[in-house]
Amino acid sequence: MNLIDGKLISRQIKEDLKIEVKKLKEKGIIPGLGIILVGNNTSSEIYVRNKLKVCEELGINGKLFRFNEQNTESEIIAKIKELNADPLIDGILVQSPLPSCFSEEKIISYIDYHKDVDGFGVYNLGRLLSNDENIMAATPLGILKMLEYELIDVSGKNVVMVGASLIVGRPMAIALLNRGATVTIAHSLTTNLKEITSKADILIVAIGQAKFITAEYIKDGAIVIDVGTNYIDNKLYGDVDFASVSKKASLITPVPGGVGPMTIAMLLKNVIDASKKRGI
Ligand code: GUN
Repeated sequence: MNLIDGKLISRQIKEDLKIEVKKLKEKGIIPGLGIILVGNNTSSEIYVRNKLKVCEELGINGKLFRFNEQNTESEIIAKIKELNADPLIDGILVQSPLPSCFSEEKIISYIDYHKDVDGFGVYNLGRLLSNDENIMAATPLGILKMLEYELIDVSGKNVVMVGASLIVGRPMAIALLNRGATVTIAHSLTTNLKEITSKADILIVAIGQAKFITAEYIKDGAIVIDVGTNYIDNKLYGDVDFASVSKKASLITPVPGGVGPMTIAMLLKNVIDASKKRGI
């Protein structure tokens, strides 16, 4: 078994991004990201803090706008419209999940698709589905980068995506299909999960259940990508039982230090790429 070291790969990507930001600054462009955080979900607080920290590291102007359950949907939408019109803001993201009193789909629909750096809006999702990719969600993009770094060609491979979320499972599955993989999407209603996962050359898991995938779900020599971020007593666990699965897998991402660090790097890559299109 070998580890796919997301920390190392993301560090290299961030070094490249720092150089890109420097070059943009020489042209008078400072990439700008507006983050909308609603409520006080603990995981979201951590994600947003980390995103702002990496913004600072790279020289990106990260701005946080906080709302809570007492605010109205219209107030959040008004902020999005203001950021859409702000020429110094290149990317806008609404941290998910929102408190249940808000419609995430409706709020996200107001983000200008040029600034939809999460790639969650229907325009960018449609482009992905049409195999005419524009802005892709950061986590799938990060996983593609990791596979590319390990020189893994997904074309013709049996890939099983466990989890069908809008943030990871769906865009990941389509992106892999676009690259020639044979993709199966399994989800919470799938009845014969083990049978399906044990045929996977590449298994990607994003279900939010700590250590759910054990060795008996894995084909010998499979590549296993663990997207899980489950906090138990302040300790982070993946969706994959690393101790047993790592004995069977040929390559595996650890948690922490796997997909997580890649996601923020790729989000900020999306912001930098958007800033390059200013005025176009
Ligand atoms: N919540 C968990 N992951 C993400 C992400 O990539 N983007 C946003 N906006 N919210 C998230």
